[in-house]
Amino acid sequence: FSAFNIEQTFLNKTTLITAGPTYEALDPVRFIGNHSSGKMGFAMAEEAANRGANVILISGPTNCKAKNENIKTINVVSAKDMFAEVFNYYQEVDIAIASAAVADYAPKIIADEKIKKNDLNFTLELIKNPDILLEMGNQKKDQFLVGFALETENEEANAKGKLKKKNLDMIVLNSLRDNGAGFKGDTNKIKIITENDIQEFGLKSKKEVAKDILDSIQNILK
Ligand code: CTP
Ligand code: CA
Repeated sequence: FSAFNIEQTFLNKTTLITAGPTYEALDPVRFIGNHSSGKMGFAMAEEAANRGANVILISGPTNCKAKNENIKTINVVSAKDMFAEVFNYYQEVDIAIASAAVADYAPKIIADEKIKKNDLNFTLELIKNPDILLEMGNQKKDQFLVGFALETENEEANAKGKLKKKNLDMIVLNSLRDNGAGFKGDTNKIKIITENDIQEFGLKSKKEVAKDILDSIQNILK
C-alpha cells in the first residue's frame, strides 16, 4: 500500500454544501422553520475538507461549528438568502451537495411590525420559495451534483423522480420511517441512488454516513 493509492477526488476541489434549515420571517420576531440540525451537512463539510477539498458551506441557522480551516462557512437565514449565496459561487464549483432543509414556502408578506393577536382565526398566506437545487441542475455544466430527498411514502420512486427532475448525478434518500434516522439526531439511515444503482446503508453516525456519501462520489468520479 503506497501513498500513490490515496484517493484524490476531493483534493483541491471546490465543494459547495448547503446545510441546515431555513427560517422564513412573518414579522420582526417570528419565523416558519423546521427541525433540521445541520449536522449532516456539517459532517460532510468536515469530511470533504479532511480529504483536501476547499469547502464552501452555506448554512441556515444551526448550532454547528465548522472546525477545518478549509471550510468557508456562509451563514444565511431564508431560502432566498441561500439561493443568492449559492449562485455567488456555483459557476466555480466542482462538486455540489444540497443537504439543506429549505422551506418550500415563505409568508407572502413580512409584516414591518409585530403582528398583534386579534380574531379567533388567523390566516397566513404563503408563497413558494425558489428551488435552489432545481436551479443548480438547470445551470449545471461540469459540476457533480448531489441532492437529498426526505420522503415518508413511495420513497425510492419519489427520490428517483427528484434525481431526474433536478438533473442530479446522485440523490441521498433519508427515510424518516426508520428509528434514529433523519433530521434531529446524530444518526442516519440512507440509500444512495444514481440513475442505474441503489445502495442501501445501515443506521450509522452522521460522521460515518458522510464518509459513505463521499466514498460513493469518489467511486463515480475517480
Ligand atoms: N431543495 C432546494 N430548494 C428548495 C427545496 C428543496 O434546494 N426550495 C433541495 C433540498 O436541499 C434537497 C432537495 O432539494 O436536496 C429535495 O428536497 P425535498 O424537500 O426532499 O424535495 P422538494 O423538491 O422540496 O419536494 P417535496 O418537499 O414536495 O417532496
Ligand atoms: Ca421540500
